[in-house]
Amino acid sequence: MTHPIDLAALPQDFAWGVATSAYQIEGAVAEDGRSPSIWDTFSHTPGTIDNGDTGDVACDHYHRWPEDLALMKELGVTSYRFSIAWPRIVPGGDGAVNRRGLDFYSRLVDALLDAGITPNATLYHWDLPQTLQDRGGWPVRETADHFAAYAAVVADALGDRVRQWATLNEPLCSAWIGHLEGRMAPGLTDITAAVRASYHLLLGHGLATQAVRAAVPGAEIGIVNNLSTIEPATGSDADLAAVRRMDGHTNRWWLDPVHGRGFPADMRETYGVDLPERPGDMATIAQPLDWLGLNYYFPVAVAADPGGPPPFARQIPRAHAPRTGMDWEIDAGGLESLLMRLSTEYGARRIYVTENGSAYADTVGPAGVVDAERTRYLEDHLAACARAVRRGAPLAGYYAWSLLDNFEWAYGYDKRFGLVHVDYATQRRTIKSSGRRYAAIIRDHRLAP
Ligand code: NOJ
Repeated sequence: MTHPIDLAALPQDFAWGVATSAYQIEGAVAEDGRSPSIWDTFSHTPGTIDNGDTGDVACDHYHRWPEDLALMKELGVTSYRFSIAWPRIVPGGDGAVNRRGLDFYSRLVDALLDAGITPNATLYHWDLPQTLQDRGGWPVRETADHFAAYAAVVADALGDRVRQWATLNEPLCSAWIGHLEGRMAPGLTDITAAVRASYHLLLGHGLATQAVRAAVPGAEIGIVNNLSTIEPATGSDADLAAVRRMDGHTNRWWLDPVHGRGFPADMRETYGVDLPERPGDMATIAQPLDWLGLNYYFPVAVAADPGGPPPFARQIPRAHAPRTGMDWEIDAGGLESLLMRLSTEYGARRIYVTENGSAYADTVGPAGVVDAERTRYLEDHLAACARAVRRGAPLAGYYAWSLLDNFEWAYGYDKRFGLVHVDYATQRRTIKSSGRRYAAIIRDHRLAP
């Protein structure tokens, strides 16, 4: 069952997209000169990933990308957001460039353009070359320089055809989940390492922005953040203060510096870690951006947690809230309010929803994959986008996460986010009913006068 949604407010040239990332779909981890990334190391460490899954094969997209492109054509998407694997391009982390790695993305880009699909390339979706981790990883400054050098190489090779670039995907996850909570690569639980990583990620973002802009005149460059609305578990002063801290940790720490406002003073105090700041860094981090990417999944309710790790706020499940198969609360209104916040508080000139989607336990039956809950999630969040546009948000596109079921990081393959189902035993792809619905929405919107 579908229900009517009013998308008339979305502009006619709205980018209708799907998104993926390299490690989650490509597989072929030892092919054509690719070196291991921190995710190869992490996923091969016992106990880190559900079922002991790894990205070794994933969706085998490295070999099957023509089929995946055909699926995109069938869905009718107008843009594809994918990431480039640093360990394929500069296997040593810095130094020698691996032509075969570049060729893979070059072929993909050519085929996308032939199909009339605009490429939107993300330079870093968490797969740091392991060799750079061995030299200190994001907590050390040199990693930011190496990232900019790698960005320049990619921009040189693809910039004649790729106009849209994102530097980092969800640096929050790299810094906080990877270095403080330990649930993602490199698996550390160290606030000093986490804060230093966050700093060098944003410095790397600024340096890479400069590098891409120098290599590609007319490049449109953005950064992709996962933001959440934050609400208090109760009206107590302690919980209200926890909201402020969680908002700092999740949202302001990532938005303020790139908008020239520096790192939030209250959060610097909360973390109690000196920033490895050098003169000029803040200006580098605050390079003008052409667009902001918003990944939105769920709202957050928090209570004060004085004994926990920074930011001393803990997520509280709200009773009766509808949830996805990730156990994530569903609230499309949160997407609308974040789009408004980026517009009004940060003066965004152009925004893309670079990811939004839901995981459910899909099965293939006689009627294919009937995923009514995901369809509903998609419709409700698109309707929220249209409401934000009506209220003035400069939203230019939406990328569903994800084109394919794929390697969902620490959750492995059990959590399925795709509009297309993947049978991992056979690599057979099946468009789900949500994918069919998305195709119809795209077609109707494009046909509308
Ligand atoms: C955001 C991440 O960018 C992506 O890699 C992940 O699969 C989705 N969220 C779903 O958790």
